[in-house]
Amino acid sequence: MIIDGTAIAEKITEDLKKQISELKTKPGLAGIIVGDDPGSKIYINIKEKKCKELGIYFEKHELAADSTEENVIELIQKLNTKKEIHGILVQIPLPEHINKENVINTIATEKDVDGLHPVNMGKLVRQEKGIVPCTPKGCIKLIESTGIKISGKNAVVVGRSNLVGRPVAILLQHANATVTVCHSKTQPLIDYTKQADILVVAVGKPGLITADMVKEDAIVIDVGINRTENGLVGDVDFENVKKKAGFITPVPGGVGPMTVAMLLENVVERI
Ligand SMILES: NC(=O)c1ccc[n+]([C@@H]2O[C@H](COP(=O)([O-])OP(=O)(O)OC[C@H]3O[C@@H](n4cnc5c(N)ncnc54)[C@H](OP(=O)(O)O)[C@@H]3O)[C@@H](O)[C@H]2O)c1
Repeated sequence: MIIDGTAIAEKITEDLKKQISELKTKPGLAGIIVGDDPGSKIYINIKEKKCKELGIYFEKHELAADSTEENVIELIQKLNTKKEIHGILVQIPLPEHINKENVINTIATEKDVDGLHPVNMGKLVRQEKGIVPCTPKGCIKLIESTGIKISGKNAVVVGRSNLVGRPVAILLQHANATVTVCHSKTQPLIDYTKQADILVVAVGKPGLITADMVKEDAIVIDVGINRTENGLVGDVDFENVKKKAGFITPVPGGVGPMTVAMLLENVVERI
C-alpha cells in the first residue's frame, strides 16, 4: 500500500486551521532566507502560502547572499523578542561564509520550530518535552498511519544526519523499536536493511535501496529528495520496492508534505 503523505498532511492542516480559528492569539512565524538558493526559495514560498491558508501570520526575511553572519544573528535576536513571532525558521543551506550552527544556536529555544537547536535536540534524546524536528516527526506519523505498532519491531534507519537520520532513530527508539542506524561506512548495507520491519531512508542517493534489500511486507519511508532528469525521486527504487513492501511512501507526495504540516503544528503548539 502506498502511504499518501499529501492526504495525511492535508487532514492535519485542516485540523490546525480549525484550531487556529478558535485561538485568541494569532500564531506568527518568521522565515529567514539568505541568498538565492532556488530550492530554498521554493520551500520558503510553500511555507508562506500554507501559513496564509491556515491563518498563521508569516514574516519573510530575505537577506542578500553577501550578508554577514552578524547580520543574520542580529535579525534572529530581534525576532527572539518580538511578541507577534512564535516561531523562527532559517532556511538551510546558508551561504558558505555563514556558520550554520552559530545561527541555529541563536534562535530562542522556545521559538525553534524546526527543532534543531542543541537544547531541543538534547531534550529529544532525554525524552523530555521540547520541540521535535519536523521531518523526523512526520516520518513517525506516516509509520503510525499504517496502523502497525512500532513497539517491538526491528527498525533500520539509513542516514545519521542531525536533520533527519539521527532524530528519526531516537524517536523510533522512544516508540520501543529496536533500532539500527546505517551510514556511508556500513558494510554491507543489505545485511541490515533486509532485517527491517520498518526502513527509513534519508541519504540523498537515487536508487540506493533496491527490492532485494527490503524485507517482505516492510514499511518503507523514503525521505530522500533527488532532482534527476526523470524528475524528483527518492532514495528508494519505488517501482520495484512497492511490489515487495507492505507500505511505502512515494516521492513526491510522501515525507515532503508531512514536513511542512509538522512545521505548522510546531508553530501552533507554541501558543
Ligand atoms: N522530505 C523532506 O522533507 C526532507 C527533509 C530533509 C531532507 N530531505 C532529503 O533527505 C536526504 C537526506 O538529507 P540529510 O540532510 O539527512 O543528508 P546528509 O546530511 O547529507 O546525510 C546523509 C546521510 O546518508 C549517509 N550516507 C551517504 N551515503 C550512504 C550510503 N551509500 N549508504 C548508506 N548511508 C549513506 C551519510 O553517512 P555518513 O554520516 O557516514 O556521511 C549521512 O549520514 C536528502 O535527499 C534530502 O534532500 C528530505
